[in-house]
Amino acid sequence: MNIVTSKNAAGIISTGRALPVSRVTNFDLEEIMDTSDRWIKARTGIEERRIITNDETNSKLCTRASRIALERANLTPQDIDLLIVATVTPDLTLPSTACLVQAELDACNAAVFDLVAGCTGFLYGLNVAEQYIKNNAAKNILLIGADTLSPVVDWRDRNTAVLFGDGAGAVVLGKVEDGSGVLASKMFSDGTRADLLYIPAGGSVRPATMRTVKERMHYIKMSGPEIFKFAVTVMIDSTLQVLEMCGKTPAELDYLIPHQANERIINLAYKKMGLKPEQVLLNINRYGNMSSACIPIMLDEAVEQGKFQSGDLIAMVSFGAGLTWGAAVLKW
Ligand code: ACO
Repeated sequence: MNIVTSKNAAGIISTGRALPVSRVTNFDLEEIMDTSDRWIKARTGIEERRIITNDETNSKLCTRASRIALERANLTPQDIDLLIVATVTPDLTLPSTACLVQAELDACNAAVFDLVAGCTGFLYGLNVAEQYIKNNAAKNILLIGADTLSPVVDWRDRNTAVLFGDGAGAVVLGKVEDGSGVLASKMFSDGTRADLLYIPAGGSVRPATMRTVKERMHYIKMSGPEIFKFAVTVMIDSTLQVLEMCGKTPAELDYLIPHQANERIINLAYKKMGLKPEQVLLNINRYGNMSSACIPIMLDEAVEQGKFQSGDLIAMVSFGAGLTWGAAVLKW
């Protein structure tokens, strides 16, 4: 789906983030599985990740991140008319995590829903939110990218366990001056490759039974090398497409915020696009792959570090389970 903004431009008004307290380093993982800090760092760029403990939950991280974004936007929760949580790890199967966040915040005037698009969830959400603003169907939108993957990662499977972390990033979207905000945004998917990254049981096809639990079917199964190859290609293609949609070139970009799944994927992609390392914003070393939370958390950190000047051109690109992928260009 192509979206090119002209009138009623939608933009990110403010950002916020929340991370679990507990830090798990690669050295901690060495204690519980056959892996090494050296392997993980060299093959992924990850040094540590945050993991929920005690009473931390996805919805609580969402709520914390949202409160910060709302305060920075100078809005109350009641000013929000649409609340979207992009996640693949809801607190519960039913109801949506968005409903739980709505209750916590008392965002009583908002319509709310969860959006499931793997690690591309935040960019899918941005695309959807942009439509509501452009069509005057919503004024203030709270979009949250949040995932708590640690409970669905098989801690006996070194192929996946070392990669993921938990976190939530929130943005408030509203109307901005024409010619700024979201300049272009595009969502892609290919359901024929659903089996490359999935959780076999726990849905209505295979509800929990003694057998599904015994066979560890409630954990993530991933074909890493296949996703790796796909990811490099689609990160480049989709970034170039959204740039072209708004008449820009990679040379005009100030920053790229890529999905933080593997630093080698990111390096291959940005070099092919002719970008310089200082244009690429990374925090994968500290957090690992937090799925839908990666991009909004990186965005929030960059805002806090004062990286963006008014008028900066920022591209965001992601890929994930589905398979899904997507990209967007923002003028800050
Ligand atoms: N520690 C030590 N050795 C390991 C580990 C580990 N944690 N994991 C795998 N290895 C070993 C393998 O067993 C293999 O050993 P062998 O050669 O003796 O068989 C060797 O390392 C190489 O394994 P590969 O799988 O070929 O390693 P690769 O370089 O491809 O890296 C990785 C694997 C990191 C998973 C990579 O393929 C990758 O990042 N893929 C993309 C995954 C991804 O992005 N997933 C997220 C999608 S987004 C979402 O929606 C959640």
